[in-house]
Amino acid sequence: MNNLVNKKILLVICGGIAAYKSLELIRIFKKNNYQVKTILSKGAMEFITPLSVSSLSNEKVYTDLFDFKNEAEMDHISLSRWADIVLFAPVTANKIAQLSYGLAEDLATTVALASDKQIFLAPAMNVRMWENKLTKLNLEKLIDSGYKIIGPDIGEMACGEFGSGKFSDPMQIFSVIKNYFKNIEKNNKFKALVTAGPTREYIDPVRFITNKSSGKQGYAIADQLQKNGFETTLISGPTNLKPPDDVKFIYVDSAEEMYKKTIEVLPVDVAIFSAAVADFKVKVPYLKKIKKENFESLELGKTRDILDYTSKHNELRPKLVIGFAAETESIEKNSKKKLNEKNCDWIIANDVSNTEIGFDSDYNEVQIFRKNKSGSENISLNTKEIIAKELVVRISNELKANG
Ligand code: CTP
Repeated sequence: MNNLVNKKILLVICGGIAAYKSLELIRIFKKNNYQVKTILSKGAMEFITPLSVSSLSNEKVYTDLFDFKNEAEMDHISLSRWADIVLFAPVTANKIAQLSYGLAEDLATTVALASDKQIFLAPAMNVRMWENKLTKLNLEKLIDSGYKIIGPDIGEMACGEFGSGKFSDPMQIFSVIKNYFKNIEKNNKFKALVTAGPTREYIDPVRFITNKSSGKQGYAIADQLQKNGFETTLISGPTNLKPPDDVKFIYVDSAEEMYKKTIEVLPVDVAIFSAAVADFKVKVPYLKKIKKENFESLELGKTRDILDYTSKHNELRPKLVIGFAAETESIEKNSKKKLNEKNCDWIIANDVSNTEIGFDSDYNEVQIFRKNKSGSENISLNTKEIIAKELVVRISNELKANG
């Protein structure tokens, strides 16, 4: 993780009278040693010029998706990868609507759609437009997809009306961004371990017992932990997924291997056991492929419970131990039982009888049961990426609260 001074901001300036204030924002970022590349929407160029922006930012200014010269130097995908965050300031009601529909009409919206970074929106518009039900609905959609909103303020507007919709003070916008990075830096001291995916318990060299786990939720959690500053190790059984960038990735096959690698990685500050570890293994796997005519029966034994071992280990126990419970009935009863019996701090439960959030789905809805707390907290239906983001906020807060 870079120091704050090296942070890279991709600033998108949209059309609107407040666009001139983003020049002040660039000046503040530069004064604090942030690097700022800027995209000017077509509308923004009615209010400010690329020359004034590039003079202040000391960087090339990007204006058009089909500017071949710029695309050759840095295409829209590299531009979104380059940034640590993307900040739309000011963002108009029109751009909010485009973003909420996932349109890729110009460079600004294309970059947002291609970005896997945190996107901030600092709106500026007339009070009626801000209070319009459609603007609210569009914003709700964006918030639900992980966008963060800065402001707007209440005050007198350029059009003479008074109310909410005024562009936030550039210093206020800067301090929100600065705190965002500071918060991530505080996570740098924490180590995290995530187990994910299914395991394979071999019967013979070509046959095994496994389950339908895709590993998607665990990979998304590891990705979010890493992006939020945690030094993250992901121990995964076989999946079709690409390991998240920068995460230390350990591939395993069986429950026993997953157990051994987990012990090697401990101690950590937080361990999240999202793997669907096979509960049974073949006691003595065949060394050669079994011939049907010679086969009678298999003797199964229990695998070692990695979560149980870790959470009950005096020296190696992480400060925060999080187990998963995939349930089809009596979610609360079964989750609380697991919480106590496996000595967890949290159990994250989901109802896998609901096919929408089942094993291979991109969506999830979870309930968090916490030690010594009655009831549970619900994180409602959303993509596994957003569920992971929500979980990581809570993990980070918990660790910071407990030193
Ligand atoms: N777990 C583990 N090692 C195992 C089995 C499970 O670490 N050998 C962890 C899982 O990663 C998950 C939690 O324990 O965090 C799930 O508990 P488990 O009792 O296996 O749940 P179920 O398989 O649903 O068990 P049951 O069918 O008995 O409810």
